[in-house]
Amino acid sequence: MITASAPGKIILFGEHAVVFGRPALAVPVTQVQATVTLAPLSEGSGRVKKRRANAQSASWQKKVLIEAPDIGLASNLFALSSGDPPHPLAFAATVLLSALEVDWLPPMTMRVHSTIPVAAGLGSGAAVSVAMIRALLAFLDRHLPDRRISALAYEVERLHHGTPSGIDNSVITFARPVYFVKDHIIEPFHVGRPFTIVIADTGISAPTKESVADVRRLWQSDAARWDKVFDKIGEIAQKARQIVENQDPSLMGPLMFENHALLQSLTVSNSALDRLVHAARRAGALGAKLSGGGRGGNMIALVRKENAPAVAEALNSAGAQRTIITQVE
Ligand code: MEV
Repeated sequence: MITASAPGKIILFGEHAVVFGRPALAVPVTQVQATVTLAPLSEGSGRVKKRRANAQSASWQKKVLIEAPDIGLASNLFALSSGDPPHPLAFAATVLLSALEVDWLPPMTMRVHSTIPVAAGLGSGAAVSVAMIRALLAFLDRHLPDRRISALAYEVERLHHGTPSGIDNSVITFARPVYFVKDHIIEPFHVGRPFTIVIADTGISAPTKESVADVRRLWQSDAARWDKVFDKIGEIAQKARQIVENQDPSLMGPLMFENHALLQSLTVSNSALDRLVHAARRAGALGAKLSGGGRGGNMIALVRKENAPAVAEALNSAGAQRTIITQVE
């Protein structure tokens, strides 16, 4: 049996502007994970051995059973891959097999489990893809560098999320803080002094694809105006990187409020996110902003470590469905 996992992620600074080429910072969140477990079916029987010799046969390929009880899915891989568009779980397997130039799989069960909330800005889709690709690589006794794994997960993101920047698959594959510029730079960066973030979930499911498409429409309506907003967000991300690497992380607080206001102007906040940002501020957070696609999903608050439980409590009272306290280091 083979198991592989991948963490969730939060974007500290730069979401949406990153789709338009500005830099962004993201960090993994290891308290939530996607896990894929592969187990061979009927290993060792004479019939299986004989059929393995004839592994290219179409009927043989149909023996990959996939179960994802969290989303009520039980099917076989090849049925899912023939949908239009194909199911992302099946597509992750398909892009890997084609990269490896493998056109069959031994019979197996694939069990997918994730504690990362779906459509909440925590990278659940990318994490499941990365876990699936890593599990299959181990099962097939093959190796690919992280850069390739991330690129394959990006193919899956692209199929289902329109025009993603690639930041989610990057931070989740590298499982380290990353400074990211679309099509240019994926740079793991150094965290000078650890800092504490409270993540709060509005409980509102909000597909990133829609908010990304709306921001694109906004930009198309007046590119000069919105490019200035993206520039400001990019400058904030640059400044924040310097702070994280070399200075007192509390200096990031005002930049978070500023970044949130710019995201509000891009129409990707909503009243639930604004309420949580406000509640975090009143409870003594150093900074707060929405994180990810917005319109729901999660927000983040930068806090002093000793103040984290009080801020989490205030966020719960203001309507958060759940909170996670995470240390970035
Ligand atoms: C989603 O986690 C971040 C966005 O900037 C979209 C993307 O970068 O692909 C909203």
